[in-house]
Amino acid sequence: MERRFGLHFDPVTETLPLIGSKEGLAHLPFAVVNPGDATIVPEPGYQAYLGGSILAGADPYIAALRPENDFLLELEQVPEAVLRRAKLVFVNYPNNPTAAVATPAYLERTVAICRRYGILLAYDNAYCDLTFDGYRAPSIFEFPGAREVALEFFSLSKSFSMTGWRIGFAVGRPDLITALTRVKSYTDTGPFLAVQKAGAAALDQAEAIVAPIRAELEARRDAAVSALRDAGFTLEAPKAAMYLWVALPAGTTSAAFAKRAIEGTGTVVLPGSAFGPAGEGFFRIALTVGADRLRIAAARLGRTLQELHRGALAPAT
Ligand SMILES: Cc1ncc(COP(=O)(O)O)c(C=O)c1O
Repeated sequence: MERRFGLHFDPVTETLPLIGSKEGLAHLPFAVVNPGDATIVPEPGYQAYLGGSILAGADPYIAALRPENDFLLELEQVPEAVLRRAKLVFVNYPNNPTAAVATPAYLERTVAICRRYGILLAYDNAYCDLTFDGYRAPSIFEFPGAREVALEFFSLSKSFSMTGWRIGFAVGRPDLITALTRVKSYTDTGPFLAVQKAGAAALDQAEAIVAPIRAELEARRDAAVSALRDAGFTLEAPKAAMYLWVALPAGTTSAAFAKRAIEGTGTVVLPGSAFGPAGEGFFRIALTVGADRLRIAAARLGRTLQELHRGALAPAT
């Protein structure tokens, strides 16, 4: 935290190793929410927020991430009654699946609203290292008052390609770290020490390890964005994360498009509706294969798009 963001935290009382950040995010509601309390969950969004809320007996309020809001979860647009009942909100930028990034002004107002209503801000920063075009993703703790209300989650899965190792960590107020530790003490007892040591070694060499991963993803992003544009799709080049969130023509159901793409061209995309109704109208591409295969996939998806224009795909009902 100090090297990456210039922020000091006590390693014993203010940080907690996790078996991947997903584990911590999904366990968090058990630590801080009582049955019936509201949580605020973005849609489309990472499913551990919703699953963890439901497993803990909370009452999740679904906040739609919309293109007209730059896919930002705007607490100002959440009904006042929900804000009063909410104990926890999950916020994730750079975002999965939309690849949106948050402006400083957005993060400032989000922290301010959480302070006003006493809502814990779970800031999921899994993609903070995967940034392009010189963009730098901040820690939530760079914003005034965040130490009072935020718990930040980091993952070594993306930055260091350590997904299968299952290692991440949480940072924040000692009482929140203690609460999450208590839940974990009943469920998992923490990550295998050898994996923690491997994670520490990776973090010690972070700058050197991350730079080529970031460069490779940026090259894949550039290849996929331009190939998708050539294939007839309209999309912005995202500044971060490892996804493209691609709009479909109005009225096309994303599941029908994804089914046609796999059946007709052998190309797998994730339909936006897999993230819930607010994800409809988009599909997600993960930049998990090289530029050449992404170009081939984009051309094939273009063929599916043309079929759509010719009316070969059922429109939305
Ligand atoms: C937004 C987001 N948060 C958290 C995670 C979890 O990462 P891990 O549990 O591997 O650290 C992911 C993984 O895809 C993710 O997309």
